[in-house]
Amino acid sequence: MPKVITLPGDGIGPEVTAAAVEVLREVAPDVQIEEHAIGGTAYERYGDPFPQITRDALQEADAVLLGTVGGPQNSPWNSLPRHLRPESGLLALRKALGCYANLRPVRVQPGLEHLSPLKPELARGVDILIVRELLGGIYFDGDRQIEGSVAYNTMRYTTPEVERVAKVAFWAAEQRRGRVTSVDKANVLEVSELWRRDVQTLRDREYRNVHLNHEYVDSVAMLIVANPGRYDVIVTENLFGDILSDLAAVIPGSLGLMPSASLGDGAGLFEPIHGSAPDIAGQGMANPAAAIMSAAMLLRHGLDRPQVANQVDRAVALALREHPTRDLGGKADTRTFTHAVLNAMGSPSVG
Ligand code: NAD
Ligand code: IPM
Ligand code: MN
Repeated sequence: MPKVITLPGDGIGPEVTAAAVEVLREVAPDVQIEEHAIGGTAYERYGDPFPQITRDALQEADAVLLGTVGGPQNSPWNSLPRHLRPESGLLALRKALGCYANLRPVRVQPGLEHLSPLKPELARGVDILIVRELLGGIYFDGDRQIEGSVAYNTMRYTTPEVERVAKVAFWAAEQRRGRVTSVDKANVLEVSELWRRDVQTLRDREYRNVHLNHEYVDSVAMLIVANPGRYDVIVTENLFGDILSDLAAVIPGSLGLMPSASLGDGAGLFEPIHGSAPDIAGQGMANPAAAIMSAAMLLRHGLDRPQVANQVDRAVALALREHPTRDLGGKADTRTFTHAVLNAMGSPSVG
């Protein structure tokens, strides 16, 4: 019996995770689901944002479904020593699972163009896969310090780190439209010079059927919203991928429509890309679509059940048409939307 560990976390995390679990239980009743603590909630309970009990539970997991972590700007969690803050718990979790490739799909489903603030002709048919490197760069490993009036972080990559994530991007492109755009800042940063060289070398050596081009991150930040149709797969380092994926959420219309899958050495980690949304937490109005679509990615990549995953994605698209949530200009709250997804699952166009 496959086992999924859920980590609801903080803010709207528990609300959207509960919705995703409801859907999972419906479409995969044989899967064993076990909940554990992460983030600020785990710190409050165990004094650690990634406690040993959660760490131990992962040993048995086939896949992990995460909500969100973190508090509001004025949260006392933000003044804790950095390793005790909620976000550090999430980073430690990613590291523990060895999830180096974070897949963040950006899709405008047919008939949902009206949810995008972009002109319908720009939004129509957009299907981008952002592959964000998740365990390296400025987030991890390099020298870092804050002392008095001086602080620094270092962005560092090695060839094996670049190659392993680039392979995932090329592999994904082969299943899609065969194009990879590698995003860097090679006009300024040595680390980007290495990134660009290694991605190109790998392409020339092993993926000559994939078309590869290189673009600068500042330009991509403009083009991804001005002309999203020009992208198929984007591969980029950790921090650039973090920023570009929130920006890309504008295309479908909300952060609440952005799921993700983090793959690597062991069990996959599946999580919406949005945060804990302190401004709406506890009000039952968060959009659970990203969490539900992350559960679909879990079914596809974590449990190898692509047909059920597609079924969930189609049900979400139907629910978005009939019952858009408030972040999308609609009226549906979390419960209404989740029920709409469950109802749509029974409809002939989905099953
Ligand atoms: P955020 O993503 O939480 O919120 C940004 C805006 O988007 C808010 O107005 C919020 O209400 C809205 N929003 C986000 N998700 C939504 C959803 N599902 N439905 C409806 N509206 C939604 O970003 P933030 O405010 O910068 O960060 C809040 C906290 O979350 C911080 O502590 C931050 O560190 C943390 N964070 C965690 C993750 C994660 O767990 N993966 C990701 C990003 C931020
Ligand atoms: C994300 C978040 C995290 C990140 C934070 C909360 C550590 O912004 O998942 O996109 O920067 O990776
Ligand atoms: Mn982010």
